[in-house]
Amino acid sequence: MDMELLDLFPDTASVSGGELVLGGARATDLAREFGTPLVVYDEQTLRSQARAYVDAAPGALVAYGTKAFPSVAVLKLFLEEGLGADVSTTGELEFALRAGVPGERLVIHGNNKEDELLRRSIELGALIVLDSIDELERAQAAGGTRFLVRVTPGIEADTHEAIKTAHHGSKFGLPPEDAVEAVRRAPEAEGLHVHVGSQLMHFGAALMTVDWIAQFSARLRAELDWTPRVIDLGGGLGARHVLEEPSFTIGEFVGGLVGELQRSFHLLGLPPTQLVLEPGRSLVSRAGVTLYTVGNVKRASTATTYVTVDGGMSDNPRPAMYNARYTALLAHRADAEPAEAYTVAGKHCESGDVLIERVELPAPQRGDVLAVPVTGAYTLAMSSTYNAVPRPAAVLVADGKARVIRRRETVADLLALEGPVGSA
Ligand SMILES: Cc1ncc(COP(=O)(O)O)c(C=O)c1O
Repeated sequence: MDMELLDLFPDTASVSGGELVLGGARATDLAREFGTPLVVYDEQTLRSQARAYVDAAPGALVAYGTKAFPSVAVLKLFLEEGLGADVSTTGELEFALRAGVPGERLVIHGNNKEDELLRRSIELGALIVLDSIDELERAQAAGGTRFLVRVTPGIEADTHEAIKTAHHGSKFGLPPEDAVEAVRRAPEAEGLHVHVGSQLMHFGAALMTVDWIAQFSARLRAELDWTPRVIDLGGGLGARHVLEEPSFTIGEFVGGLVGELQRSFHLLGLPPTQLVLEPGRSLVSRAGVTLYTVGNVKRASTATTYVTVDGGMSDNPRPAMYNARYTALLAHRADAEPAEAYTVAGKHCESGDVLIERVELPAPQRGDVLAVPVTGAYTLAMSSTYNAVPRPAAVLVADGKARVIRRRETVADLLALEGPVGSA
């Protein structure tokens, strides 16, 4: 095994006697005790990622992008580290409230906020990120006063089409002219919001966005005598899923943004602002490792041997949705020499249900545990029950102990949603 591969795993990951160890617990023991598929979250990594944000942007409100993995336990842990939460539905809001996140650390998103979400946000004194003029009118009518105006600068992030958000014609935010109108109608607004996109592996678009928002702030000062007191730069820092992808630290990314913001505001004679950041993926992705049990190993052609696992696109839709790449290792033969390259397929009735196109492994056999790193973000959060496959459990590991933070769904849970059986 290439020991560099451990860089993709959580901080506490090691290989001892061929066994992958996460948070002091053997991956194969976790698989046996809790079943598979299982998403294992490493507490130390979650905390260290959160601390990296707090250190890189002292004084900023770091609001965890709950959508990456809505988990009460994780939200609570981040709360202990001084973070807040970005939520975009009443469901996510309930998760944040269950974790005890106070109203002043909540940032409310969504391009189609329900009346209930607006009402609760106002009641809680949370910061509402306005996504349209219509929403501004509804929020003002409901008594809201704490707003950020989300603007789409027309910048194309270098990422997958589905997770670009700041381009012209985006379904999110207000085009610049509408954003000016929103500020004119709501001078009480605290500031501006922009989120350039997710899974950013280059900083260019994010830095351009910072410059753009400074120019836009100068325009608002000139036209409306209004300057932002708060700038929210959203989330976006990408995760490295395979060794061939570039890697950036939170310190490098956030340090770059903070420096650019200070510089550009200073150059334009604008007053310093309170910063809000909304990281999701970069907080939780590397902390999570998915464990699967190997089933069929099948040679389909001279070029392709499938290793089939007991999950797939239902617990991790990212390869099917975004062509996301992953790698893997065998949890009890983590340091064995690879035999050949395999294709890791899921158990679902779609040819596109392939988790890993090609990964070198030491001849997997039925019953082996396959560990896929960097699966903590937008996996369980986007999971489905396709093929009536119940969703996996998640555990949090620290100091050799594991606790269930999301119980495994059962077929009984799925059947409980069905109507009464009777004649049609
Ligand atoms: C408005 C907003 N903030 C924060 C995030 C979190 O982004 P990421 O997980 O890329 O850090 C997203 C995700 O797309 C978003 O749309």
